[in-house]
Amino acid sequence: MKTLILHGPNLNLLGTREPEVYGALTLESLNEKLIAEGQKMGLEVTCQQSNHEGALIDALHSANEWADGVIFNPAGYTHTSVALRDAIASITPPVVEVHISNVYAREEFRHKSLVSAVCAGKISGFGWRSYLLGLMALLEI
Ligand code: DQA
Repeated sequence: MKTLILHGPNLNLLGTREPEVYGALTLESLNEKLIAEGQKMGLEVTCQQSNHEGALIDALHSANEWADGVIFNPAGYTHTSVALRDAIASITPPVVEVHISNVYAREEFRHKSLVSAVCAGKISGFGWRSYLLGLMALLEI
């Protein structure tokens, strides 16, 4: 099962960006863990990150051609992007929304997600393991 793990804006700075909120793991180490854990589950994991809305949309369109499922952390775009919501709604593979932090324990503007309604489900608040739980969820779908 081919799986895309897609990281949105500012997640390239994991490890140094607000470590008290997002943890000390770098994006590279996170991706290595997810590829290894995915392998154990029989998933072929590919990881991508972009700070650009259009590039994230292109990655989702492309995943429609090759992926069986997508784990997506849209980061700040979660709360603002109609275009990303439309891209998720336009593709066939199930998309699981993930967040490292518990968005509901944070500022009110983070409580609203424009993408949740078109995702298969949402996981928030378990640190880097939110992605791992996302992979487990994809296996169940
Ligand atoms: C985030 C939560 C978002 O509100 C924030 O803008 C991010 C990261 C998370 O993984 O906890 O950049 O998606």
